[in-house]
Amino acid sequence: MAEKKKIRKAVFPVAGLGTRFLPATKAVPKEMLTVVDKPVIQYVVDEAVEAGIEHFVFITGRGKAVIEDYFDIQFELEQTLKSRNKNAELTLLNDLLPKAGTASFTRQQEPLGLGHAVWCARDIVGHEPFALLLPDMIMYSEKGCLRGMVELYEKAGGNVIAVEECAPELAHKYGIVGVGEELEGGFRITEMVEKPAKGTAPSNYFINGRYILQPEIFSILETQERGAGNEIQLTDGMLKLAKQQAFAGYRFEGRTFDCGAKDGFILANAFFAVQRDDIRPLVVDPLKELLSALR
Ligand code: UTP
Repeated sequence: MAEKKKIRKAVFPVAGLGTRFLPATKAVPKEMLTVVDKPVIQYVVDEAVEAGIEHFVFITGRGKAVIEDYFDIQFELEQTLKSRNKNAELTLLNDLLPKAGTASFTRQQEPLGLGHAVWCARDIVGHEPFALLLPDMIMYSEKGCLRGMVELYEKAGGNVIAVEECAPELAHKYGIVGVGEELEGGFRITEMVEKPAKGTAPSNYFINGRYILQPEIFSILETQERGAGNEIQLTDGMLKLAKQQAFAGYRFEGRTFDCGAKDGFILANAFFAVQRDDIRPLVVDPLKELLSALR
């Protein structure tokens, strides 16, 4: 039986190459691209904070050092802001700073796949269940996706994966789960299929990039062979774990923006801009005008 320890740590794999965003990602990690005025990674860290996460583990790689700098004090900048009495800006920076000792960074030397990136967190996470958030997926909902998952985990234990419904004709593009017994706030997962052949998907529920996993995943990933795309795939590891431990599906009912893709990133900018009282009046009419000019 899997353990039901508190979820204290969250892993953010940020070592991917971000090839879909070249040339920008030649010099800027995709997680640092800004949605309105915050880097994408900040939205995802905020979701983890709201879920009660206490320790933030970043799996970085070459060219990603700016992410580490972002979560640190910027001494000269802060002194300059102080000398100019820019107190609101100083407070903003302070509020976003993780407490000393609560952020860890380790490098995945080669981008061998998501499964390998997660395995790189094994020593920092240790023997306890942890959250895994794909840092290019921004979720928007009243109750954060990870918080909802933690609530389900507190009842169901084991492993939890957030899922969303897609149109049946798109199921072949995603990792899809099979739906079993209903649980309060979710359901038992009966199977997982990565990119099922058209017409064979067990449901329309796709895995959206948020996971709560038991630490046994690490020993599985340690010996996991390369799969699709010649990468060490997390899904292959989870399929093995599912033979030993229960998996529950959390139905996420908010909005998800895949900021690793251009369309998702642009839509996220438009969406979060119109959520903001200070920006909405500046952009709504021009956006409407832009769209109507297309017709
Ligand atoms: P993606 O599939 O989005 O890959 O990885 P990518 O390489 O970042 O982007 P593209 O497809 O080339 O544009 C999903 C998540 O897993 C991380 C990525 O940083 C991303 O957050 N990842 C992927 C790693 O940390 N290491 C890897 O080896 C692969």
